[in-house]
This record gives sequence, C-alpha cells and structure tokens, in this order.
Amino acid sequence: EKAGFDHFMLKEIHEQPKAYRDTMLGRIADDGLSVNLKELSMLDDYIRSISKVHIVACGTAYHAGLVGKSVIESLARIPVETDVASEYRYRSPIITPDTLVIVVSQSGETADTLAALREARRNGAKVLAITNVVGSSVAREADDVLVTWAGPEIAVASTKAYSSQLIAFYLLGLNLARVLGTQEQQTVKELIAALHQLPEQVESILTQSAVLKQVAESMANHRSLFFIGRGVDYAVAQEGSLKLKEISYIHSEAYAAGELKHGTLALIEDGVPVIALVTQEGLYEKTLSNIKEVKARGAHVLAVTNAGFEHEVAQSVDEVFSIPKTLPLLTPALSVVPLQLLSYYASLALGHDVDKPRNLAKSVTVE
Ligand code: F6R
Repeated sequence: EKAGFDHFMLKEIHEQPKAYRDTMLGRIADDGLSVNLKELSMLDDYIRSISKVHIVACGTAYHAGLVGKSVIESLARIPVETDVASEYRYRSPIITPDTLVIVVSQSGETADTLAALREARRNGAKVLAITNVVGSSVAREADDVLVTWAGPEIAVASTKAYSSQLIAFYLLGLNLARVLGTQEQQTVKELIAALHQLPEQVESILTQSAVLKQVAESMANHRSLFFIGRGVDYAVAQEGSLKLKEISYIHSEAYAAGELKHGTLALIEDGVPVIALVTQEGLYEKTLSNIKEVKARGAHVLAVTNAGFEHEVAQSVDEVFSIPKTLPLLTPALSVVPLQLLSYYASLALGHDVDKPRNLAKSVTVE
C-alpha cells in the first residue's frame, strides 16, 4: 500500500505532481485563457459584492491560507485576513454578509475549523470550504466546496494536501479575477501556463532529493534552527518549520527575514543552521542582506532559490538548492517540496516514526 516507498509521507510527497494535475483538471479552459470553477454556486453578482475575505484554518492548512491571502489580494484585489481557527472565534471577528469566509481543512473534521465555519454562517456570511474529503462535515456545512483532489493522506504530517490547497487558491484567485476583471488577459495566460508546468517542475525537484538527505543528516545534530523568508517565502518558511518540528522533534522557528534583527538575531551563534527562502525577485537583495547578517554571526545557511539566481546566492551562503523557474506567486508550490524532504530525512536520520509522530493525531476533533 506504500507503493514501494518506505513511508506514507515519502509516497505522498511523490504524489504531488499527480495531486496538482488532478486538482487543476477540468477547472481551466482548454484555450488556457481562464479559470471557471463551475462547481461553485456563488453568482457573479455575489462575487462582485464581496468586500473582504477571511481565511480560517489550523496548522498546515493555516499556512496554506497565509499563501492564499497573498494570492487573492494580488489577483482579485480583495482585502484578506488569515486566522488560526482557534483564535478567530474568540476575537469577535467582524463578519458581515459581504464577508466571504474560506475554511481550509484537509480532513474536513477539525473541530475549531468547523466551529469557525458555523460562527461565520450564523453571522450571515457565505462559507467556501477547501477540503480534501468530499463527504466531510466541513464540506457538508459550507455553502460551497472546492475539493483538492490530492487523494487520501495517511501520514500525520501533511504534504500533498497542503500543496494542493495552494493550487486551489491559485484557481480560486483566477476565478475571482475573471469575474472582477482585475487582471490583464496576458497576465492570466502566463499564470495558467506556469500552473500547467508545476507538476513536471515538482518531478524535477524530486530527482534531487539526495542533496537534501545530506543536508538533513547534518541538521539532525543540531538542537535548534531557523527558517527565514519574506512575503510568500515567509509563509512557506512557517510551513517548513512546522513540518520539521512535527516529525524530527528538532526545535525551529520561522522568521520574517527583516524581523530577525529586532531580537532573534541574538540566538544566532556559530554553526546554527538557517534555511533561507529566496524566491521573490523583488526581494532578492533585501533577503540577501539578512542572510549576510546571520552569516556574520556564524550561521550555516542553506538557501532555497530560483534557477538562474543560484550563482549569485551561492556567494553568500553555504549550500544552495534551486527550484525551477516559475512566477513569484507560484513559488510556494515548488519551494515547499525541498522543505518537506528535509524534515522527512531529518526524522529518518534520528530514527523517529515518520508517519506517526509522538503526541499527534491525523484529525483533531477536540477544541
Ligand atoms: C501538520 C498537520 C496539521 C493539520 C491541522 C489541520 O502536518 O497535518 O497541522 O494541518 O491539524 O488539519 P485539517 O487540515 O485536517 O483541518
């Protein structure tokens, strides 16, 4: 049932190209010029009336929601807030009938996420669920459902469900943009062409996993490490850090690269591993200067960057892993893959139960 892989997690990491293709299937016009999510019941008039979006989820799904915020704001130009579900309900959020609430849940059974959905509906908002389980509670109670076709996820650490949630957000952003007319046809065409390339690009990353195994084995000797990035790279950094903690039990922290010097830089000392995401073209120079700050204090830096930029980055870091070239908004769907593999190999090196980490359950049905 593990199809020749040692663990479900590794199998699921390798299923991502298929999960991306299946999640896009039938949702993009054949001419590659538009996305039309025909399964949604929301009418164009309703979409035009949306004044703000709240994205609510837990854990890894919350991290997908952080990327979702950037995607919807940049493609549809609607203001978005992303909240952890267990916080959302208790901060008396301002939910109005023109708020679209998007809940994200792989299982569709997470108690806090379900409670947030109910709270949103009670306040007259429409709820769109992004879920991987068709008949789940979240799917049944939402007004609309966008299914991620990642297939069953068995490993406790979420991989293909997270990355398929990103694909769902790209499709949703493009669907909203079509109705609202917020993007030029050329931009949409380029985004769709780049989306179609993602599955093969993930495949090419997977062929380079030996390098990551080596890096992970050296990381496994450390007690603590950092992930840094800016913009969507920061969102992916948070997911990389959670994944590592969850299955390797190595402490790590994700930091907005520019925020380090406001306190946390004090923790950087000789040999501390720092994983820096450097994929956002407009922010290259800024992140590189943050990398120099940690290097100057002795950090050992692995940079995840775009093909074509790796030689420049290599001058400032110890190791470079490059991901294939894509558009800046789409890099999370690629850059998360090396981070998944790093945590997998770190967990393996430390002899932990990769698929069933201590203290954790696959589906959290208590609040
Ligand atoms: C981490 C992980 C958890 C879940 C979270 C939400 O790898 O799997 O953080 O993402 O418990 O679960 P769902 O998406 O089922 O609501």
